[in-house]
Formats: sequence, structure tokens, C-alpha cells
Amino acid sequence: MKRLLVIQGGGRPKGNTSQLIEHFMAGARAAGHTVERFSLVTHEVKGCLGCNACRYGKPCIQKDGFQELLPKIQTADCIVFASPLYFWTFSSRIKALIERFYSMAQADPAPVLGRYETYPVRDCALLMTAADNYFWTFEQAASYYQFALIHYIGFHDKGMLLAGGCGDTNGKPQIDKTPHLKAAYEFGKGLYQF
Ligand SMILES: Cc1cc2nc3c(=O)[nH]c(=O)nc-3n(C[C@H](O)[C@H](O)[C@H](O)COP(=O)(O)O)c2cc1C
Repeated sequence: MKRLLVIQGGGRPKGNTSQLIEHFMAGARAAGHTVERFSLVTHEVKGCLGCNACRYGKPCIQKDGFQELLPKIQTADCIVFASPLYFWTFSSRIKALIERFYSMAQADPAPVLGRYETYPVRDCALLMTAADNYFWTFEQAASYYQFALIHYIGFHDKGMLLAGGCGDTNGKPQIDKTPHLKAAYEFGKGLYQF
């Protein structure tokens, strides 16, 4: 059985993204996995300052939610990023966290073309919600996920659940009127079945 860490990058307390996460977690628990949820709304993680102290053997100089999150990332088998779609991509909170992964990088004596360092190898998955539901709605988010997290950082992709048509934030969350919650449960349950 696996240890899953769901990192929530935003969304209303009982909103579409929270509901999607809850159903995903219920499915994962039904399959016997241990699941922990970490909110970047209640635990602020700021973006990288580019000071490079971490490249000289020092811990990150910023003192924020990353110190609490780091050991959870280091012991998780799978990191599940969860975010509402904000201006056609991840929330800024998820992006800020990904920048802080810089401090986890290690020197690679023989990097492949276009890669400069190595990162801890983890599985990862993506959960997102959006108001729109066009074929291009999640294009930038999915592209960034594939490019930065899978191809560059080197996480192993366990899949994406991109839940469009959940209603905008002017009104009540609408995700319960879509098939996405059931799909999230099945996604969590089947994450390591194949
Ligand atoms: C700042 C902001 C930006 C948004 N940008 C988009 C967008 O680019 N495309 C879209 O389809 N929905 C967009 N939405 C709608 C949300 O992605 C959608 O309502 C989401 O399900 C809200 O999640 P929550 O219920 O967990 O808060 C945006 C909402 C906000 C508040």
C-alpha cells in the first residue's frame, strides 16, 4: 500500500476542488492507501527567491509552510497536486511550491540534454476543476504538468483528472451535478491497480 500526499493549491473550503479531493481520497483509502491532505491556503509556501543558498548545502532561507511540507514530500510515494484552474493554469500557490522544489535538486554528473540536476523520484497525479469545459480548457495546465513535473523533474505520471464544467465562483459549487466526483473516487481507488 502506498502513501499519498494531496497538496491543495487553492479553492473554496467546500468548493469544487475540495469535493474532488475528498472523493479521490475516499477512493484511495478504500484501496488501502494512506492519504494525507496539505493545504497551501492554510500553509503558505512562497515562491523561490533565487538566492541559491540551497545550492551551497544550506536549507532554504525562507521560513514558511515548506519546512512542514518537505518531510511529507520526502516520505510520500505519490504527490497529488490539486488546484482550481485560475487564468488557464495552476493556481499561483502550486506554481510557488514547484519553484521551491529547486532546493530538493541534486547535482547530476551526466545530465541528459535539457536537464541540469536530479530530483527525488516520486509518482505524481493532477486533480483540477474549472468553470469552462472546452477541449482547450486545461491545455496550459496539462502542458505545464507534463513538461515541468514529468519530463523535467522526472516524477512518474499516474494520471490527471481534469474536471471542467463545475460552475464559476459567482455561485455555488456545481461539481456534484457532474460525473467528476465518481470519477475521482475511481481514480483514487485505481491509482495503483494497473
Ligand atoms: C481567480 C479565478 C480565475 C479563474 N480562472 C478560470 C479560467 O481561466 N478558466 C475557467 O474555466 N475557470 C476559471 N475560474 C473558475 C474556477 O476555476 C472554478 O469555478 C473552480 O471550480 C473553482 O474551484 P473551487 O470551487 O474549489 O473554489 C476562475 C476562478 C477564479 C476565482
